[in-house]
Order: sequence, then C-alpha cells, then structure tokens
Amino acid sequence: MARLLLGVRGGIAAYKALEVVRLATKAGHAVRAIQTPTAQRFVGAASFAALTGAPVLTDEFERDPARGAFPDQDPPAHDPASHLELVRNADAYLIAPASANTIAKLAHGLADNLLTSAALAASCPVLVAPAMNHLMWEHPATQANLALLRERGVIVVPPTTGALATKHEWGTGRLADVADLVAAFEAVVPAGARPWDGLKVLITAGGTREPIDAVRYVGNRSSGRMGFAVAEEAAALGAQVTVIAANVALARHPRVSYLDVETAAQLRDAAVAEFAATDVLVMAAAVADFRPAAAHEGKLKKSGRDELQLVLERTEDVLSGLAATRRADQTLVGFAAEHGAGAVAYGRDKLVRKGLDAVVVNDVSQPGIGFDATDNEVTLVTAAGDEAVPRGTKAEVGRAILAVVDRLRAATEAKAGA
Ligand code: CTP
Repeated sequence: MARLLLGVRGGIAAYKALEVVRLATKAGHAVRAIQTPTAQRFVGAASFAALTGAPVLTDEFERDPARGAFPDQDPPAHDPASHLELVRNADAYLIAPASANTIAKLAHGLADNLLTSAALAASCPVLVAPAMNHLMWEHPATQANLALLRERGVIVVPPTTGALATKHEWGTGRLADVADLVAAFEAVVPAGARPWDGLKVLITAGGTREPIDAVRYVGNRSSGRMGFAVAEEAAALGAQVTVIAANVALARHPRVSYLDVETAAQLRDAAVAEFAATDVLVMAAAVADFRPAAAHEGKLKKSGRDELQLVLERTEDVLSGLAATRRADQTLVGFAAEHGAGAVAYGRDKLVRKGLDAVVVNDVSQPGIGFDATDNEVTLVTAAGDEAVPRGTKAEVGRAILAVVDRLRAATEAKAGA
C-alpha cells in the first residue's frame, strides 16, 4: 500500500486518469487527486471524489476537508498550516496527463496553481506522463523541458504512438497505458511495511572542498557512496530523508531530498538548519578538519615561486557542535575513518568525546573498502559494545547501520516510557 497523489491537467486524456485511480485503488493504494480548473471541463471532480473516496482539490486557497490526509490516514486534529500538506503525505506524485504547457511550467519552476505548486513542493518522487498533439511533443522546447526535468530526477513516463484525439492525426503523444502508469508509480514507492514512516533522517555524505584559490582546493577522497547508500536504505524504510551532499557526483534517488554544499562551513550551516527537525543524524561526510586560512582571490600564479606554503586553520567540528544541542530523543551516528591498528579504540573514544549514540568505524588501510570503494567493512561501536559488520556492499552495510539505529531508538523509547 502506498499513497499516490494524482495531478490531472486538462485534455482529452483526462478521462484516463479516472482509470489510473481505479487501478491504483484496486491494487490497495490510497489516492488523492488534484485537478486544474481546465481538467474539470473534461472530467468532473465528482468522478475523482467517488473513485478516491476523498475530496478533490483545485485551488491553492481552498480548504481541504480531509486536512491533507490520504484515505488511509486519520486527518490531523487541526488544519495544517500549508495547503501543500497533501504532497507532503504522498509517497509519489504522478501528473497524468501532463500537457506541454504544464511540462514547461514544471521545468521552469512556475507555481501558478495547486498542481504546479505541489510539484515544486514535492520531496517525494515526481512522475510526469505527457499527453499532447504529436507536433507539440516533438517540439524542441518540449523535449528540452523534459530533458531538464529528467536531469532533476523527475520520472517521465513517455507517451505512446498511435491515433491521436484529433481526427486523422497519428503520431507520438498518447498518454501511456494506464497499467504502465500504475507500474511506474509502484516502482518508486517503498514496498511492504514502512517501519520508519514519519521519521526524519538527516545524512551528510561526500567530502568537503576548502578553497585555496578560485580553482584549487584542499579535499579528500570520499565519493559519498556510503552516505548515499544509507539514505536510500532509510527511504526504503519509509523515512523522510534529507542528504547534505558535499561534492557528490552519484545518481540521486527520487525519494530523497538533497542539499548540495562544497565547504565544511556550508555543510555546518545546512546541518544546523536541519538538525532540530531531525530524528536520526548519520554523519557520513568526510568533513575537512583544516582549511586554508585565507583563500586567494583569482588564480595563484606559479611564476616567481620555488615553493608555496599553505597556512591551514582548524574548522569547526560539525558533529560535536550538533551533539552539544541534541535532544535525548535524537539518534546521532558518527563515522570514524581510521588507519590500521587501534581503529575500534579510536572509534570508541569518538563515541564518548563527541557525545554520540553510535560510531561506524572503518579501517581505511584495508584494500577494497572505505573511500571511493563500492564495498565496505565496518565495526559499529555503541555504549552496549562492538558489532563487526562483514565486508559487503555499501547498501548492506547501510542496512546494518540502520538496524543498530532501530535498536538504539527502541531502547530510548523504552526508557522514556518507563
Ligand atoms: N566531523 C565533523 N566535523 C569535522 C570533522 C569531522 O562533523 N570538522 C565528523 C565526521 O563526519 C565523522 C566524525 O566527525 O562523522 C569523525 O570524524 P574524524 O575527523 O575522524 O574525527 P576527529 O575527532 O576529528 O578525529 P581525528 O583526529 O581522527 O581526525
């Protein structure tokens, strides 16, 4: 079971959106629908309301009688502050049919109605199913807009080819098959139980870069793979996941929100802004401990120099700073990249010194694991003891880390309830 928010734009194909609702609800999903006013000229709201079993919204300023809840949820006791509560509760947002005009608006961030505002506010995966005249579909502007959306992680369910709505017209532009639309939705939503539903997880990933001049930096070899893997595993458990990504060039997951940063200071600012609303923090980023005391303006020239000395200054320890303001109901996980003997002992020291609940220790002196590798092998250090996680993919190691977080949270909840 998952929550599908369906955005219906005006057009002949709007009637097919009813069939999407029928198939999705039959498959056990909870569906809410948003229509544009033009869509209502093609198919009335009463049809969507009857099939979804919930009110249909068109206007940004209209009160939602269900207060943003899906049919499987209890409406909150108070009206939510935002009319965008609906998209916050959705597991995925499918816009079907999407006209060339809507696609153009989405590509350029226009939010002139509830359907487009919801797309701009969506942190869940967004799927767009175009349906239009074949010449509009083939137009370079439409194709460029779709390329832009794809680049940003929007999933485009392409139209099919065949006879179009206008008599004697044939080409590409027919809304994809309804079964394919439901399948595309199911491919991006978490399967099965969602034990972390409602939990807010903040993950830092990658390696910071500290500028020496306009083009050079002091950096490290972290690829961001471990943090991204943890993020995807947490999203699969149903959590609301934000990743602060420091210079990560990896593919992005549609169920995860990303904030890009470059330097340790930017990472700190982003983490501080997010921390109060966070239940679980996993600090996987390799944050610079030192940065050039002053970055040169422009590009440093080599002429006239036999050597160049850089003066480095300490950066702030982000994790310790956050831990100093933590609440007991938050779970904090740090990483310790250690080299050779004594790795676990160093990790244990960090657990205590930084005020954490768990430290993931990896020995980066071992070939094939750690920085920039696809595999990892770690020891999870908590107050209760050490747990060795054998070599495996970063996804497997990510699951082991989250299993420890689960245990820690259960223990904290038991203590709070006692
Ligand atoms: N970390 C941080 N801010 C920094 C440096 C590190 O938040 N400026 C975080 C890392 O993301 C990691 C943990 O702290 O989760 C451990 O980092 P590490 O640099 O190994 O710890 P240190 O205590 O600085 O120890 P060391 O002397 O080994 O560098």
